[in-house]
Amino acid sequence: MYKLKEIAPQVYYVGVNDRQKALFENMWPLPAGVSYNSYLIVDEKSVLVDTVDICYSDIFLKKIADALNGRLLDYLIVDHMEPDHAGSIRLLRQQYPNVQIIGNNKTFGMLQGYHGITDGLHEVKEGDKLNIGKHTLSFYMSPMVHWPEVMMTYDETDKILFSADAFGTYGTLDGGVIDTEMSVDHYWEEMIRYYANIVGKYGNPVQKTLQKLAGLEIQTICSTHGPVWREQKNKAIDIYDRLSRYEGENGVSIIYGSMYGHTEQMAEAIASSLSENGIKKIVMHHVSKSHSSNILKDVFKYKGVIIGSPTYSNQLFPDLEAVLSKIELREVKNRLFAYFGSFSWAGAAVKKLDAFGERMKWETVGTPVEQKQGMSVDNYEACLLLGQAMAERINQN
Ligand code: FEO
Repeated sequence: MYKLKEIAPQVYYVGVNDRQKALFENMWPLPAGVSYNSYLIVDEKSVLVDTVDICYSDIFLKKIADALNGRLLDYLIVDHMEPDHAGSIRLLRQQYPNVQIIGNNKTFGMLQGYHGITDGLHEVKEGDKLNIGKHTLSFYMSPMVHWPEVMMTYDETDKILFSADAFGTYGTLDGGVIDTEMSVDHYWEEMIRYYANIVGKYGNPVQKTLQKLAGLEIQTICSTHGPVWREQKNKAIDIYDRLSRYEGENGVSIIYGSMYGHTEQMAEAIASSLSENGIKKIVMHHVSKSHSSNILKDVFKYKGVIIGSPTYSNQLFPDLEAVLSKIELREVKNRLFAYFGSFSWAGAAVKKLDAFGERMKWETVGTPVEQKQGMSVDNYEACLLLGQAMAERINQN
């Protein structure tokens, strides 16, 4: 019944779209949904690459059955055990009891822990090959992109890289699957947001994987989320390369909390000074309104980060502190940092922002501005100078 998209001869897309979930990992908004991609190679042996979230296992299993057309499934390759991809493994095993599950030694511990599966396993190591007829598959370990057991599968015949989460994006596949047959403009920002939210902490492992992949001839990238990259594969690789090296664009994120608008006035002054001094990409995030998912995206995207906070009970503004802990968790490197704050009777926020910058090992730019109560002429001028200092430092970049 299902007319399945053929990625290459005998290679089918059997993934699903999730337009119901509000928050990925119950944290990150999905305004345009997300896809869980899975691929089936129907050669002399049939091989499924990853499964899908358990919520979609019914339609997923029907698609596989259609593609197999009465044949049995010989192999399941588990490139990643996170439940958005591994959630349907137990049901798949029930449907195809003889399916051999291919993974590495780290995969199998998780397979037992999540699904109680301990038999019918085929362990692979770095560079191992599996011939399934016309296709030969090889396996490359890719630990911490984004879990320790992650590996990638390379189809030597069609030069397809099944890349697990890498090069994935938020956003469903609305009809088309391969980038050549659809407009993909809206996925690029979502790729950065996905990276910043999900993979961001693991820049070094991503770099190691990219170096490993540089030795492969890749014509198509089949990620587990978002479009199949063919025409735009180099752009996807380039984005991952830049993000994992923490190379920001020449722009600034201003991230601030404000209860009654006094800290916000400082943010406005700094923003206008940045603009006056030639910075075109300026994004302002009021932490009480901007979701941390988008804030993280811009921290990864832009070289400059300016943070402001009122003092709240001798601490940072709590919502801002929550965002800072998410930035810190991701160990974002090489940012140009400036900061400011306000207080009503005793200042603490600026001191805490200073400590944050130290912990991040970011380069501090300009002189921090600390404002007592309302905006004064001197503080306004100091904010302009702060914006100017950041703009000049970025323009040297
Ligand atoms: Fe899409 Fe790390 O799972």
